[in-house]
Amino acid sequence: MTDVDPYRLPTTVTPSRYELRLEPDLEGASFTGTVAIAVDVHEAVAEIVMNALDLEITEAWVEPADGWRQPAEIGLDEGTERLTLTLAEALAPGPYTVQVQFSGVLNDKLRGFYRSTFTDAGGTSRTLAVTQMEATHARRAFPCWDEPEAKAVFGVTLVVDDDLLALSNGAELDRTPTDDGRVAVRFADTMKMSTYLVAFIVGPLEVTEPLDAGGTPLRIAHPLGQGHLTDFALDVGRFSLDFFEDYYGIPYPGGKLDLIAVPDFAFGAMENLGAVTFREVLLLVDPARATQPEQERVVDVIAHELAHMWFGDLVTMKWWNGIWLNEAFATFMEILTTDAYRPEWDRWTSFGMERSMALDTDALAATRPIEYPVVSPDEAEGMFDVLTYQKGASVVRMLEQYLGAERFRDGIRKYLSTHSYGNTETTDLWDAIEQASGEPVRAIMDSWIFQGGHPMVSAELLDDGTTLRLRQEPFRYLDTGDDPDFAGRTWLVPVLLRHGSGDGEGTTERLLLDGTQLDVDLGTTPDWVVVNSGGSGVYRVRYATGLRQALAGRAQTLLSPLERYGLVEDAWAAVVAGASTVEEFLDLARTFADETDLSVWQRLTAALGSIDRLVPDGERARWQAHIRALLAPALRRLGDEPEEGESDRTSTLRAVLFEAVGTLGDDEDVQRRAGEIDARSAQQDAGVDPELAAAAVRVRAAKGDAALFDEFVERSDAADTPQESLRYLGALADFSDPEQFQRFLDRTLTDDIRTQDAPFLLRRSLVNRANGPTAWTFIRQNWDVVNSRFPSSGIPRLLEGVRTFTDAAVANDVRGFLDEHPLPQGAKQVAQHLERMQATVALAEREAPKVAGSFR
Ligand code: BES
Ligand code: ZN
Repeated sequence: MTDVDPYRLPTTVTPSRYELRLEPDLEGASFTGTVAIAVDVHEAVAEIVMNALDLEITEAWVEPADGWRQPAEIGLDEGTERLTLTLAEALAPGPYTVQVQFSGVLNDKLRGFYRSTFTDAGGTSRTLAVTQMEATHARRAFPCWDEPEAKAVFGVTLVVDDDLLALSNGAELDRTPTDDGRVAVRFADTMKMSTYLVAFIVGPLEVTEPLDAGGTPLRIAHPLGQGHLTDFALDVGRFSLDFFEDYYGIPYPGGKLDLIAVPDFAFGAMENLGAVTFREVLLLVDPARATQPEQERVVDVIAHELAHMWFGDLVTMKWWNGIWLNEAFATFMEILTTDAYRPEWDRWTSFGMERSMALDTDALAATRPIEYPVVSPDEAEGMFDVLTYQKGASVVRMLEQYLGAERFRDGIRKYLSTHSYGNTETTDLWDAIEQASGEPVRAIMDSWIFQGGHPMVSAELLDDGTTLRLRQEPFRYLDTGDDPDFAGRTWLVPVLLRHGSGDGEGTTERLLLDGTQLDVDLGTTPDWVVVNSGGSGVYRVRYATGLRQALAGRAQTLLSPLERYGLVEDAWAAVVAGASTVEEFLDLARTFADETDLSVWQRLTAALGSIDRLVPDGERARWQAHIRALLAPALRRLGDEPEEGESDRTSTLRAVLFEAVGTLGDDEDVQRRAGEIDARSAQQDAGVDPELAAAAVRVRAAKGDAALFDEFVERSDAADTPQESLRYLGALADFSDPEQFQRFLDRTLTDDIRTQDAPFLLRRSLVNRANGPTAWTFIRQNWDVVNSRFPSSGIPRLLEGVRTFTDAAVANDVRGFLDEHPLPQGAKQVAQHLERMQATVALAEREAPKVAGSFR
C-alpha cells in the first residue's frame, strides 16, 4: 500500500498496552501526564509515528525489554495530528516500551480532556475534568495510536485531590498518597479496546452504592446533590444489562459499570467501556415529574450506550466508514430494549417518527449512501447524522422484520462471538446473518447501504383482479436533474404484503422486489392490500386509486398504528414532493378524526405545523378555526385530566393535542388552562400531570410577555430536575414577541446558557414561525462567535432549523452565506439543509397562493 493517506498511521509499530498516569489541575485548567506504551515493532524502523494534538511533549524515549533507553527526537505535525519520534538508531523487530511525557490544557470545547462546571447547593462554582474521545480526540488527551483498529489494554492512574471522585474505565484498585498531599488512584486494566473508548472523570461528584446487576456492580455518578434522581437510571441500567446478556448470549465485557452525569457534554451520551458518560437530562430523572417522552429518552439513551458495550466496544469497526453500523445497530437495539422495558410505550410505532426524519433527508439529491468513505477527522465527525443513526437503524429493522427476530439474533450472536476483541467490516455482519438465516442478506443490504435514497413502491391490481403489480422508482422531493444514474436506481426491497377480504386478518407474504417490477399472483381478488405490512419497510407506498380508497375506508379497523402512521407520512411526503396538494392532505387528515394513536397524531400535527407556515396572514384566523375543528373533538374525547390507570401514551396524546390546539389553533380556552396548569406546577402541586405541565409551558411561551420571560428564566435556573430546567429554557426560543425573542437570542452567547444547549436552542429558534428569520440574521451576524464558542458538532445541527424557511429571499440569503462560509465538519449536512430549505420554498410557492382554498 502506498502511503497516500496522511491520516492513517503506519502499522510497522503497534501498541498492546498503555500505562497512563495523569495529573489534572482543575483550577489551573491544565494537566500533565506520562504514558508508557508497550509496542511491537514488526519491521526495522527509525521512526515511531502516533497521534497527538494540542499537547506539549516534554520528553520521549524508547526502551527494549532489556537494554538501554534511547532518547527520541520529537516532531509534532498539527495538520495530520501526528507525533513522530525519531531515533538515532533503528529499532530491530521486537517488543519495546515507548515513554512519553506531556502536558495539555483542560479545554472548554467539550472534547479530549476538558473542563465542565456546575454551581453547587451553596452557590459555589465547582469544576470537573472529563473526557470525550470519540471520534478522534484521545490524541488530545495523551499520545496514542488513535485509530479504532489499534486495540490495546489501558492501565490508568489519576492523581487527584483526596476529596474528589475519580473514575475511569476499570474499577478502582488502590489509592496511594503522593508526596504533595494528593492521592494516586489506580484503576484495573481494561480489556483490549480502542482509544476512543478511554475515559477519565475527576471532580466533586457523588456516586450511588453499587447495585449488583447480575454480577456487575452498577452505579450512577452525578454532581453533588442529585442523588434523588438516580433510581430510574439504576433500574434501566440493570434491565438493559440483563436484556443484552440474554440477547447477545455473551456476559457484559467490562469489570464494573458506572453511568456518569456530566454538566457539560457535546453529545447525548458516550459508550466508554464501564464508564458511560451522559448529559444530565438524559440520565437523572424523577419519573413522577417527567413526561413519558422524557423518560423514554432516558431509557433509549441508557439502552443505546449499553448496547455498545458489546456492539462497538467488544467488537469494533476497523475504520470510521463503519461507524454507521455501530450507531445504527445501537439505535436498533435501543428501540428493542425500550420496547421490552415498557411494552405499553409501543416504541416501534414511535420509531416511525425517527424514520421519517431520516427519509426527509434521504429524499434529497444531497443525501449520501449510509456507508461512506471517511478519510479525515472532519469527515468522521460528519458521519454522525440522521442517515447513520435513523436511516441505518431503519434498514436494520427492516431486515430483522423480513428475516424474523430469531434468525436475525442468531446472526448477531455468531458475529459477536466470532469477532470479540477484534475489528470488523460491515460485510462481516451480513455474512454472519446470511449463514444463520440462509437468505441473501449481503446482496439485500448492499443495495441499501451503498447507494443513497430510497424507493417509492407503487401497487396496482391488474385487470384480471388477482395479479398485484409492484413497481419501484427512486423517491425524491425535488427534481434537480443533475444525477444521471438516479432514475434507474433500484433496491432489493423486502416487501411484506398483506391482503384479504372484509375485516379479516388476511394473508401475509414475504417478497423480494428485485428490479423495477414484480407481478404477484394473489390467487383471489382481494378487498384490500397492504403493501408495507407491519410498517417497517424503508420505502414509500403509492396505491392505485381503488386500492387507496379500499384502505382509507378501513384504516382504523384494518391497519396497525404504525401502518396508519405510514399512510399519513407518505401522503405528506407526496405534498412536499409536489405529487399531491395540501388540499388532498387535509381531506385525508379529516378521515383521521377518530384516530387514537399518539404517533399518528404527532405525524398529523407536524404536517399541520408545516401547513401553518404557508397560510397568509389574512387567512390565519380562519385556518386557526379549522385546526380547532379538526383537533378539538379528539382532545375532548380524552377529557381535561388523565383518567385513573390510563396509558402513558394516552396522557402524552392529550398533551400533544392540547399544545396544538393552544398554539396552531390559538384557542383561548386552552391558553387560559395552560396558565392555570403552569401556575399549579410552579406551586409544586404533585397532582399536575407532567405531560400537560410540559405542554402548558410551550403554549404560554407562544403568547408570553416580558414578565413571563423573566419567570421562565428563573424557573429554569431554580428547577430541581434537569428536564424541568430544560423545558423552561427551551420555551424561551418559542416566544412570538419580538422583544422577548431578541432577549433570548442575546442570552445564547452568554454564560447564562451552556454551550452544550445553545446550538439546540438556536435550532429551535430558527423554527419559530414568527421570528425564525430574525434568528438567522443573529446567527449570521455572530457567526465567528457561534463557531468558536459551541462544540463543533453543534453547528450543523443548529443550522437544521433553516429547513423550515418558506421565504425565497431569506432562503437565498442563507444559501449565499453558507456557500461563502463552508463548515468542514458538516459539509454534507449543510448541503442537505439547503436543499431541504429549497423544497420548503418550492412548496410555499406552489401552495401558499391556493392554500386558503383547501380549508373551506
Ligand atoms: N458514540 C455516540 C456518541 C458520539 C456521537 C460520539 C458523535 C462522537 C460523535 C453515542 O453512542 C451516541 O450515539 N450518542 C447519542 C445518543 C443516542 C441515544 C442516540 C448522541 O450523543 O446523540
Ligand atoms: Zn451510539
